[in-house]
Amino acid sequence: MSRGSDLTLLKEKLSSAGAITVLTGAGISADSGVPTFRGVDGLWRNYRAEDLATPEAFERDPRLVWEWYNWRRELIATTRPNDAHRAVERLERRCTDFWLITQNVDGLHRDAGSQKLSEIHGNIWKVRCTDCGAVEDNRDVPIAILPRCRRCDSVLRPHIVWFGESLFAKDLEQCAMVLRNCDILLVIGTSGVVYPAAGFASIAKQTGAFVAEINLDPTPQSALVDLTLHGRAKDIVPLLLEPL
Ligand code: APR
Repeated sequence: MSRGSDLTLLKEKLSSAGAITVLTGAGISADSGVPTFRGVDGLWRNYRAEDLATPEAFERDPRLVWEWYNWRRELIATTRPNDAHRAVERLERRCTDFWLITQNVDGLHRDAGSQKLSEIHGNIWKVRCTDCGAVEDNRDVPIAILPRCRRCDSVLRPHIVWFGESLFAKDLEQCAMVLRNCDILLVIGTSGVVYPAAGFASIAKQTGAFVAEINLDPTPQSALVDLTLHGRAKDIVPLLLEPL
């Protein structure tokens, strides 16, 4: 099928869908200037995200991990939601049964006004106490190294789900529910290699949803989805809301 007819088909599906779920990854924020993880821009010194975003890395060298998060905070603080974030927020307002699952920790969906969302990998603007577990907002750029808990003075960590850690139970439950109940799953800008999110397209498909992928490049999920639109999220997602 041509790109034009794929776009029309997806718009038809969206306009008749009762329940819509959207899954986003770093690709949707790339157009805002946030580096993706598996792209060439994702480098920081000579470390890979996978080597810093782990509980073991934090235990070994919490200062190094906080320096890396400070670098990311400085970068993300200068960014704004783009047309794709804004279109996802408009979709939420248009559809009563809507849920957004994002793997992004940059907070740009919230900045765009999205409210029905699960930030399944956490949020870079939140910190959590390594001892008492208290979570609080923290927008300091840079954040003091090492930051301390106001309640118990223990070291704070980023409120981020790291490699080797489980998603929060409430997020997993919510995701299972919205993936099983949706008529359409839109998968936007994720390489589809990090679980559990990498398995979400397949869960939705098994329960009968129409699954569409929007990405610059093919992914491991491309073979199982019903339709793929290749291109930049900021160009394609707004088109989905235009009248048929
Ligand atoms: N529009 C659409 N897609 C894009 C764009 C764009 N402008 N730019 C890049 N992409 C695509 C890339 O082709 C790639 O498939 O977005 C995807 C980004 O993939 P990753 O960098 O792997 O990001 P993501 O899938 O979100 O990573 C998942 O891995 O490191 C962890 O916790 C981190 O949440 C992250 C998780």
